[in-house]
Amino acid sequence: MNWQLPLMLAQTNDSNLENLRERTEAISMQGTTVPDSSLIREGTSNPFATEYWFPTQASSFAGEVDFLYMSIFWISLVFFVAIIGAMVYFCVKYRRKDGVIAPEPSSSHNTAIEILWSVLPSIILVWIFYVGAETWFEMRIPKENAEEIQVTAKQFGWLFTYEDGDQTNELHLVRDKPVRLIMQSEDVLHSFFVAAFRQKMDIVPGRYTYAYFEPIKDGVYRLSCNEYCGTGHSKMKTACIVHTSEEDRKNNTKWIEAEKTPFENGQRIYQIHCSGCHKVDGQAATGPALNLIWGENEKMIDGTTELVNEDYVLDSIWYPEKHIVEGYGPVSKMNSFKGILDQKDVDYVIAYLKELKEQSGDAK
Ligand code: CUA
Repeated sequence: MNWQLPLMLAQTNDSNLENLRERTEAISMQGTTVPDSSLIREGTSNPFATEYWFPTQASSFAGEVDFLYMSIFWISLVFFVAIIGAMVYFCVKYRRKDGVIAPEPSSSHNTAIEILWSVLPSIILVWIFYVGAETWFEMRIPKENAEEIQVTAKQFGWLFTYEDGDQTNELHLVRDKPVRLIMQSEDVLHSFFVAAFRQKMDIVPGRYTYAYFEPIKDGVYRLSCNEYCGTGHSKMKTACIVHTSEEDRKNNTKWIEAEKTPFENGQRIYQIHCSGCHKVDGQAATGPALNLIWGENEKMIDGTTELVNEDYVLDSIWYPEKHIVEGYGPVSKMNSFKGILDQKDVDYVIAYLKELKEQSGDAK
């Protein structure tokens, strides 16, 4: 049972996003799937309309990107039809006929045609370059008032840190507020991609990369990793939510530990740090599922069994090499979280695991 979904939606009290619930029905923090914005047809059934084939144009330059793409598509189509058409026509017209041995003489030079087929394509290509460069500059050069959001990509999830220090694992933005992402990877090569924004940028370990855009339409869009980064690559996606006001955004990103239950704090830590590799629906992933383990005796790769209690959880988070569950060896794929999660955080995780066990038990 996906009981986390209502909790997540309950946090989203954005009045202008009434259909948010519907559109995020597919959101599950267990795997974080988001409806593909390319499936939202923007109310057109005309297959010749750009909006029919492409995701919602939700950034300031999305329309220009699509315009250039469609222009090149139609130019290519026109030339394809003209060239193939002429070729077929000439093949038939000048085919070898019975009784005619020598080929008809052909003209070796025609100044008018040669100028035409040199100048016309040149003009078209220069135009494509001009429009392409113009759009590219718009996608690359941030406006001066752009807010900065830190993005940390890791196997297999996202962490977004806002200017006021809030952190989330979905990206929350404000409509008409330009944003510059400062991105880094904790491990391997990833790539930031939001189709609705027509923006994509690799995230490279050992250096910062940047992405810039201005969301112009509120809604929920899919944010995914677009560079194969390991077995969980296809799961490395989350929601990008564009709010209508700064206040709405703040309501969705602020997290006051003291106002939350240990369970909620634990769930949040799970979502930010653990959900990339550990599921809570009983399914094995990069690491074992976490929902049924509390209080159980788990089998280790060395044949021993370990009781999942407070010490076991602390060890597993701080010293992942210490206990490796059978089937997940021979070495631990997990990095130590010592220095990232302190003992209080571990307490929250424990509270979360305890309740998960109870809830999963109830659902049975
Ligand atoms: Cu991260 Cu693919």
